[in-house]
Amino acid sequence: MATNSHVRLAHPSQNDGVQMLRRGYNFTDGSNELGRLDAGLFFVAFVRDPEVQYIPMQTRMSAQDGLMEYLQHTGSALFAVPPGAAQDEWVGQGLFA
Ligand code: HEM
Repeated sequence: MATNSHVRLAHPSQNDGVQMLRRGYNFTDGSNELGRLDAGLFFVAFVRDPEVQYIPMQTRMSAQDGLMEYLQHTGSALFAVPPGAAQDEWVGQGLFA
């Protein structure tokens, strides 16, 4: 396997055992002004600690990943997602109470 392949760089064995729950959403949005397909992937990952699980992996990939040749990054966002609420609890209570 190529040492700069996406799957190798993303594998836990190359990232101190780090794992993440991923949910990709493919999209196709017609053609752009050059007649090229306007398509891609919304990459979504669920992690407990972005500084430990996401940022180091993304930083390495942006420098080394062979897949980058075929990608154009258009935006990103980070959301805090509170856990489910137990009986008599409100959503986010563990974070804000
Ligand atoms: C948007 C462009 C991306 C494409 C097209 C893409 C594509 C793929 C494909 C085809 C695989 C192998 C099949 C699978 O496990 O689903 C994979 C695995 C993986 N990708 Fe991506 N990916 C993208 C972005 C990212 C980003 C931004 C990250 C995180 C920084 C990431 C992290 C991972 C991880 C952790 C694996 C599993 C590695 C393993 O456990 O072996 N990917 N990706």
